[in-house]
Amino acid sequence: MISIEDFAIFAKKKAFVYPSTEIYGGMAGFFDYGPLGVELKNNIKNNWWHSFVKNREDTVGIDGSIISSQKVWEASGHMNSFFDMLSECEKCKKNHRADHLIEDSLKLSVEGLESDALDKIIVDNKLKCPNCEGNLNKIKKFNLMFPVSLGADEKTGQKAFLRGETAQLIFVAYKSVVDTARVKIPFGIAQIGKAFRNEISPRNFLFRTREFGQMEIEYFVHPEEKKCSLLDKSHLDLEFLFFSKENQEKNKEQTKVKLKDIIKNKILGEWHAYWLAESYLWYVNLGIRSENLRIREHTSDELSFYSTGTFDIDYNFPFGWKEIYGNANRGQYDLTQHQKHSGKSMEIFDEETRTRFIPRVIEPSFGVDRAFLSFLYDAYSTRKDEKGKEVVVLKLHPKIAPMQIAVFPLVNKLQDKARVVFSEIKSCFTTTYDKSGSIGRRYARADEQGIPYCITIDFDSLEDHSVTIRERDSAKQHRVKISELKNELFKLIN
Ligand code: ATP
Ligand code: GLY
Repeated sequence: MISIEDFAIFAKKKAFVYPSTEIYGGMAGFFDYGPLGVELKNNIKNNWWHSFVKNREDTVGIDGSIISSQKVWEASGHMNSFFDMLSECEKCKKNHRADHLIEDSLKLSVEGLESDALDKIIVDNKLKCPNCEGNLNKIKKFNLMFPVSLGADEKTGQKAFLRGETAQLIFVAYKSVVDTARVKIPFGIAQIGKAFRNEISPRNFLFRTREFGQMEIEYFVHPEEKKCSLLDKSHLDLEFLFFSKENQEKNKEQTKVKLKDIIKNKILGEWHAYWLAESYLWYVNLGIRSENLRIREHTSDELSFYSTGTFDIDYNFPFGWKEIYGNANRGQYDLTQHQKHSGKSMEIFDEETRTRFIPRVIEPSFGVDRAFLSFLYDAYSTRKDEKGKEVVVLKLHPKIAPMQIAVFPLVNKLQDKARVVFSEIKSCFTTTYDKSGSIGRRYARADEQGIPYCITIDFDSLEDHSVTIRERDSAKQHRVKISELKNELFKLIN
């Protein structure tokens, strides 16, 4: 397993991700996506939008503003409850996130414990600053919201914040959507965009950053509707690794379960189960190996202030199983809060049941950058080339690979023919053209960039009007007529 530090070096070398503003020394928790990275990230976001908005009849999208008034975040509860526990070193003044410091030193999960309990663990175990061995001050609560000043006059200006989650902008726009977009319960509002958190100690490459993308859906259901009409066999028979609250509390292992069994055992309600399964399948269908994914139920101590039940999807990173997706049952919490604070009714009228009510909400929340990191990490593999040298093969799913096809003339003399083939397919697939270096070197370069199919034009192509398709994962080759090439590539990619 490649370490996350080495993986970050690989990602930089191959033009996926760079530390942001590196020429000025960079800034912890911020990254820039390079030429290949931006393609992969856009493909992930586009695929998500297609799967969860365009392909569905019950979901609409919005694109909310990034900066919003303090009033929004007071109503949502983020001003009072969106905290991490900060442990400062008395000597070197370095700040640590207290739960991570304990987790790292004692291999103990302390998610959700209050500051007194964390202080006691630090004192009882004589934990010191990992940076300088200094003593640690008493833990303070640290709010993660980023304040911004609006306008020229800081004193009279309105207090505002960068959004700590994209979700809140959906709740704030909910009334406008209901009034204008002809939605009918049950329905979802989806959004892709940036969120910002003033993380105490960003780390593990893209995993914990201060600026990151989220792809979120707030799915609104009648509060009394327990049955989910959308659950089908593909969801119910879905089998996955599951780490229940009970097993975590009893120090037991995760187990393999089927979705239908955890619904039967009343661990999950049907709507919640449906969205977990849909989301899990999205990751798997785009190539993440299911042995590297698990669903973990939150313990009662760690639930967010707005949630009555949360289930994460975790990926098996080299630094442990960590959340890449969270799915909370937010109930009527957010809409009720906004109704109270704004004075505007958040009720919806349902023609079918002729009733007026505040819907309850299930929230599938995907991190863009954590999805990017897990797709890229899961795709990373190595094999020996014909000279016995270890080479990297990025086995990205063709639907999200930054480049789907590479076209190579075997030698420069064949460029005219190769250019014709390139022009013909580049409007249908993301295609790159490469004429430099030996053909072996070009295949190796394409493997490292995750290009699933390479097409080579050789001297025979001039006679038989055929080309060679070389498949990245098996390195196998087959010949195809140029007239059949587009169809063949469509078949392979889809
Ligand atoms: P963690 O426990 O790792 O801090 P979280 O519980 O705060 O995560 P959520 O609040 O559930 O995360 O956020 C929803 C999703 O947003 C996460 O599943 C993750 O994909 C993404 N996310 C949250 N915080 C960050 C961050 N600092 N950097 C990158 N992505 C993040
Ligand atoms: N919207 C869920 C979260 O960001 O925590």
